[in-house]
Amino acid sequence: MAEEKKILYSGMQATGSLTLGNYLGALRNWINLNEEYECFFGVMDMHSITVRQNPTEFRQRARDLFALYVAAGLDPEKNCIYFQSHVSSHAELSWILNCYTYMGELNRMTQFKDKSAKHADNINAGLYTYPVLMAADILLYQADLVPVGKDQLQHLEITRDIAQRFNGIYGDVFTIPEAYTGKIGARVMSLQDPARKMSKSDENPNASIFLMDDGNVIRKKFKRAVTDSEAEVRYDVANKPGISNLMDIYSATTGKTLEEIEREFAGCGYGDFKGAVGDAVADLLTPLQERFAELKKDKEYIDRVIRANDEKAFYASQKTLRKVKKKIGFTEIIRC
Ligand code: TRP
Repeated sequence: MAEEKKILYSGMQATGSLTLGNYLGALRNWINLNEEYECFFGVMDMHSITVRQNPTEFRQRARDLFALYVAAGLDPEKNCIYFQSHVSSHAELSWILNCYTYMGELNRMTQFKDKSAKHADNINAGLYTYPVLMAADILLYQADLVPVGKDQLQHLEITRDIAQRFNGIYGDVFTIPEAYTGKIGARVMSLQDPARKMSKSDENPNASIFLMDDGNVIRKKFKRAVTDSEAEVRYDVANKPGISNLMDIYSATTGKTLEEIEREFAGCGYGDFKGAVGDAVADLLTPLQERFAELKKDKEYIDRVIRANDEKAFYASQKTLRKVKKKIGFTEIIRC
């Protein structure tokens, strides 16, 4: 008998434009996972409304994120890629799990503390229970593995705690998920402040490479990247964080090792090196941008893929949700 594939779940928020960091650190590494795992990737639009969104832009962004998943190479026949808000099971399980999550646990979440400081005028309850919705996402699909960045590990930890608590009361309902530790993507830092992660929401437009930036903009941003006064291409994160970040990006983009890069640019100035990084990143992103532009023109195809995948996600998630409702003791729904 063929062994069942493990289930893998991840997603991104439909907020802001994706950066090179999102691509090299996450999206690109999702591409062939479906060979080994049964994969679900959500467009996490329900999480996005914990921060105020402009409806017109938000609608476009979420759809663009979906198309970008496909453009990046996630085969929609082999992966279930879908919109979180199209599958009502997420909201339902999230409410239920709220009742199995302690305020003390949520009070410890560092992302909540950071975001409340940043959006002091809108500290809403959704921002507070954000991790519970994320737990629902993961647990609905009985995921074994969750590829997430460091900043989301605490949310995965609380997901495990909630699942274990629930299972402790009702028996084995949820699979206890683990962080995916396979090939981990590059951690890309800001081009203007290499102590900080490259971010979608950086106020300085030169700090981030956006996936839709054109080649000349990309080259210009790399030319302006903050480095040091040494003029030696050498990997040393503590003393040369700017150059080390550019080396990480060049390595992730070309597949060359750090030693190879040091050798390639021995005796060269930073200008040559920055030029090479800019060219390599522009070359990497051009085919992605072309594919994305093509897909955007094919509304019918995207609509068809959305419909099919929403349905797959709904079906898979309802199986868990039905079980949860039964275990809790909700009365049976009777429909003719
Ligand atoms: N909170 C995640 C982020 O901002 C996105 C997310 C929502 C997610 N639900 C998830 C990631 C479930 C993995 C699994 O990066």
